[in-house]
Amino acid sequence: MASLSSSTVFAGFSYSRPASSSAAAKSRRMVSVRAEAVNPEIRKTEDKVVDSVVVTELAKPVTAYCRCWRSGTFPLCDGAHMKHNKATGDNVGPLLLKKQ
Ligand code: FES
Repeated sequence: MASLSSSTVFAGFSYSRPASSSAAAKSRRMVSVRAEAVNPEIRKTEDKVVDSVVVTELAKPVTAYCRCWRSGTFPLCDGAHMKHNKATGDNVGPLLLKKQ
């Protein structure tokens, strides 16, 4: 996992540390954790975003579904997770549905 900067958003939580670098501050480091929404903007008017897929009806042999909540084509993956992972040190990726 990437090291956390003084303020980092990771997996829906933000972590921050005091900016002080004194020896006393280093010996009693505090990390505050504040919960944040995982979904930044997708279908926010709904109480809960739920999608269902009938696998036998998939048009393609493999269909990638977004699990990072950053896709511009949600619920389908558009590769936006790569930018999110690079920026945050996260490791999210899509759910791959395979037609049989
Ligand atoms: S864009 Fe969200 S998992 Fe790929």
